[in-house]
Amino acid sequence: MGGSTANRKVVERAISGSGDLFAKTRARTLALVDGLSPEDLVVQSMEDASPAKWHLAHTSWFFEQFVLGQYVPGYRFFDERYLHLFNSYYVQAGTRFARPRRGLVTRPSASEVLDYRHAVDRAVSHLLASPPKDAAVEIARLVELGCHHEMQHQELLLTDLLHAFSFNPEMPAYRAPEPLAVTAGREPEITWQAFDGGLVEIGHDGKGFAFDNEGPRHKVWLEPFELADRLATNREWQDFIADGGYETQTLWLSDGWAVREQEGWTTPLYWFEKDGVWWSFGLRGAQPVDPDAPVTHISYYEAEAFARWAGARLPREAEWEHAASTVPVDGHFVEGGHFRPRPATGPGLTQMYGDVWQWTQSAYSPYPGFVPPEGAIGEYNGKFMVNQWVLRGASCATSRAHARATYRNFFHPHQRWQFSGLRLARDR
Ligand SMILES: [Fe+2]
Repeated sequence: MGGSTANRKVVERAISGSGDLFAKTRARTLALVDGLSPEDLVVQSMEDASPAKWHLAHTSWFFEQFVLGQYVPGYRFFDERYLHLFNSYYVQAGTRFARPRRGLVTRPSASEVLDYRHAVDRAVSHLLASPPKDAAVEIARLVELGCHHEMQHQELLLTDLLHAFSFNPEMPAYRAPEPLAVTAGREPEITWQAFDGGLVEIGHDGKGFAFDNEGPRHKVWLEPFELADRLATNREWQDFIADGGYETQTLWLSDGWAVREQEGWTTPLYWFEKDGVWWSFGLRGAQPVDPDAPVTHISYYEAEAFARWAGARLPREAEWEHAASTVPVDGHFVEGGHFRPRPATGPGLTQMYGDVWQWTQSAYSPYPGFVPPEGAIGEYNGKFMVNQWVLRGASCATSRAHARATYRNFFHPHQRWQFSGLRLARDR
């Protein structure tokens, strides 16, 4: 009796926790598109980016595909055509519409997509109110996954929108410009934080939510190393530019130099010069570059060249995680509403979480013992473990709920439309 009561309480807690998270997450997505026009919602500026309307629909598709369609007896899909239209990359879930053409889909309209969202909201809430007993824990787990999936899309929605807006000569601001943070002249020189290394453990231990790619927890050997106490700044990046960093082939990896040549990179993405001053375009419109704020919108190749120029290197992901687990999870996330990285404050190891994602020199590959889950949901992370690099730490567009020491973000080395920056490391 005691055991079954305890079990029931665990199930009830899981269901109510998922219900709260679901309501909060779905509302936040709508808050992020507040004030956008239907035209803003439909545009797609490149293959890597998706229209905001697609994000609104696809995050709803996820709950229909993996929760409602599986666990509601006789569930009638809102519109069968959406199963094809809003599937992203889940081969086992069925056919998919071509990703590069998402911006050509003017129907369903934005208001029809909002109706779709509301219908899915009602159906999920209804299911959570009276879940089938034998599947309640699994439903709670999948709804939680769907919420964390939606948070990832909230970040993409912002970075995709910024990319689209960057083509508009009027440089529209997503949110009203705010005054630049007051900075007291040059930021302090880097204070190197020393770590002994040795045999350490990294990876998620299974307590609380994590994506499958964060585990299993396992042992790693680290040689002694040092990390910069803060992120690399725009001022340092201006020094890199002034010193010919973008023109010095010997600083660059061969693949990186080829992309730099092909794309004609001479600055981070969204930088431009006006009357001899560097400006950048961001979610708060065009503003002079804040020299003390972390540099952002750089590729792995640029981060790597910068590190070589600075006489240092990028951290390995195990080094980063080992160091990050020694500091509290604190920083500038999307909830702060600044929508741009801010200068470092305080002594010790700062800015480990938030502001900008930090490129590491670690290839995105499976941890020892990693096995993706069975079925279509197993396609979430595992099949992308090639040709991409791990970024750590979260950004000013990331949900606070995604800031943890074990979180592994990943992108291709040439991509730079995310809030991606770097922290220097070196051997001791
Ligand atoms: Fe997705």
